[in-house]
Amino acid sequence: MMHIYEMAELNEEDKQLVEAAKQATSGSYAPYSKFNVGAAVRLQNGGIIVGANQENAAFPSGLCAERTALFAAGAQHPDQPVVALAIAARKDRQFLPQPIPPCGACRQVISGVEERYGQPIRILLYGTEGVLVSEGISPLLPLRFADEDLR
Ligand code: THU
Repeated sequence: MMHIYEMAELNEEDKQLVEAAKQATSGSYAPYSKFNVGAAVRLQNGGIIVGANQENAAFPSGLCAERTALFAAGAQHPDQPVVALAIAARKDRQFLPQPIPPCGACRQVISGVEERYGQPIRILLYGTEGVLVSEGISPLLPLRFADEDLR
């Protein structure tokens, strides 16, 4: 369910999505952490929506790259299922060697988006030494709070 690949081993679509996430780090506003994160969402129709972390002097008011991208996709293309999500992070100009895992709140949101469209999201976590690919959020969030828990 989770595999590590070299960039060169990825298919063209995945490579393109990872590149979009890397580029999206340029939209990061992170004057406090100086940790620049980019995310790119692939929609079922092939469209790509990007996001980047947006910080605020009142720290908890900021938002991670993943949720910025997923909420933008949901708001702008509500009828388009999300099929994949790529994440990349850098400090200064250096992309990190190891992939960063999405935070707990983002995992919960990814899980919610899977439920919304009824299909798993392919998750690509970029690091310069390898790309971790998870087929769906389940390996990253095995015991999750979901729609059925509300019934
Ligand atoms: N951050 C993300 O955007 N995504 C993650 O998965 C982890 C953390 C952001 C939040 C904050 O702006 C900065 O990285 C440091 O935590």
